[in-house]
Amino acid sequence: MKTSEELIDKLNLPKHIAIIMDGNGRWAKSKGLPRILGHRSGAKAVREIVTACAELKIKILTLYAFSVENWNRPKTEVRALMMLLEEYLKKELKELNKNNIRLIATGRIDELPDTAQNALKKVSDATSKNTGLVLNLALNYGGRAEIIDAINKLIKEVLNGKIQIPVDEEIFKKHLYNGLLADPDLLIRTSGEMRVSNFLLWQIAYTEIYVTDVFWPDFNKDELIKAILDYQQRERRFGRI
Ligand code: FPP
Repeated sequence: MKTSEELIDKLNLPKHIAIIMDGNGRWAKSKGLPRILGHRSGAKAVREIVTACAELKIKILTLYAFSVENWNRPKTEVRALMMLLEEYLKKELKELNKNNIRLIATGRIDELPDTAQNALKKVSDATSKNTGLVLNLALNYGGRAEIIDAINKLIKEVLNGKIQIPVDEEIFKKHLYNGLLADPDLLIRTSGEMRVSNFLLWQIAYTEIYVTDVFWPDFNKDELIKAILDYQQRERRFGRI
């Protein structure tokens, strides 16, 4: 009998997978643990899913690691999330290079703590020549903020005479944080909630959405394969019949 990985149609893989990693807090609560330990286990799941995506030859993985709204959490939780990010970047550099993974970030990066910005720069520089999976970390990210930031960039360029109006979709997209990346084919949300939470609002116009009840710390390679197999059953019409 074929394993679930063997059932994947290699010719119909999602090129770009985006994930809303939700449920760290509920996972911790269900085990009587502090929320921070939920995030720590969430970071372990990040490691497993990044490696799995590289093995499965997915081209781009975008992870919603910290939203513009997440600053409103208790200071200790925000600090712990930043610490986990820095720890992840320090520990994973070797593994990212070993697996030919390039790290990039998306969001208002210049508003992150200096130490996080430095760690990000170090890892993105050190992996910039890698040609395999692109790991795109959404940090201090908001879909509306991204659209507003793009509009402000465009207005400046119009006023400087660098671009002409009217602006079309193609030019607009190029002004998003990573305007050259293909849009996600598959958006996964863990822990059951049916909303997009200000994630990639422009880019998910035609993205297939998969929601699982599994909490993020329990989301592993098998769960990822389930999501991909589900995606492969979808008929994508992009507004056509
Ligand atoms: C949502 O769970 C998760 C986050 C707000 C942060 C995601 C962070 C990680 C997975 C760990 C660190 C990341 C990296 C890249 C190393 P929640 O706290 O909203 O869960 P809840 O809705 O159950 O309370």
